[in-house]
Amino acid sequence: MNLEDTHLDVLLKAQKAQGITDRDLVKLAEITVPDLNNLRAGRREPTAIEKIARVLSLRPEAIIDLANGTWHAPAAALPPHVLQFTTPFADMTVNHYLVWDPKTLLAAAFDTGTNADPLFAALERHKLTLAKILLTHAHGDHILELDRIVERTKAVPFAPEAEPLAGCKPVKDNQRFKIGGLNITAHTVPGHSPGGTVYEIMGLENPLAVVGDVLFSGSIGGIRSRYRPALESIRAGVLTLKPETILLPGHGPITTVAHELAHNPFFP
Ligand SMILES: [Fe+2]
Repeated sequence: MNLEDTHLDVLLKAQKAQGITDRDLVKLAEITVPDLNNLRAGRREPTAIEKIARVLSLRPEAIIDLANGTWHAPAAALPPHVLQFTTPFADMTVNHYLVWDPKTLLAAAFDTGTNADPLFAALERHKLTLAKILLTHAHGDHILELDRIVERTKAVPFAPEAEPLAGCKPVKDNQRFKIGGLNITAHTVPGHSPGGTVYEIMGLENPLAVVGDVLFSGSIGGIRSRYRPALESIRAGVLTLKPETILLPGHGPITTVAHELAHNPFFP
């Protein structure tokens, strides 16, 4: 699976979130307007990238790796009893997940994607009972199939307290859920959305965290609130989890805490 964001996406996200105009960027980075235009047109401009990355407080070598196609997601594999589904949404795709306890066959779904049919098939194939639907945030691509899943499985849906949805119970920061032998802790990480929630899952052979659009492999979801506090909340809510924690993002490939700490351009 391709990374969610290119080097240009990352640069634009960081620029936009910090409210920096192109005019200011050129001035602060001490580059020329043609330098910026060449970069935006897809030319490799390592010197300009390095200068812009420094102005935007990004990790320059990570952006250059993204530009050169030498940035790789870690070779993390989905552990047993975890499934990732990727469904289309406009010109992109969105991930949702199913995680279950192998002893009780009780399962939790994380987000819904845009087509729940593969989820229904997996529930049947593995003879699972879907106990809960835990939503990371309320953006349309993550909740599109909620009604259909609830109707068919009777699972109890939960949405972040700050992003209430009809029929869903609220999820608070640090709220815990038990699903058979799985222990799940919710961490509220505002920034991309007001109640963005990370679900830390213990009880399988690897610690896991479903992170929605809080963090992507090699990027983050676009920040729609104050930038610095949002980055700090991502650091506190995701990057302080155990380094071996496998991160399951709402877009793009899976990753690990250790890998993002070492390579994510937003956390130099
Ligand atoms: Fe989102």
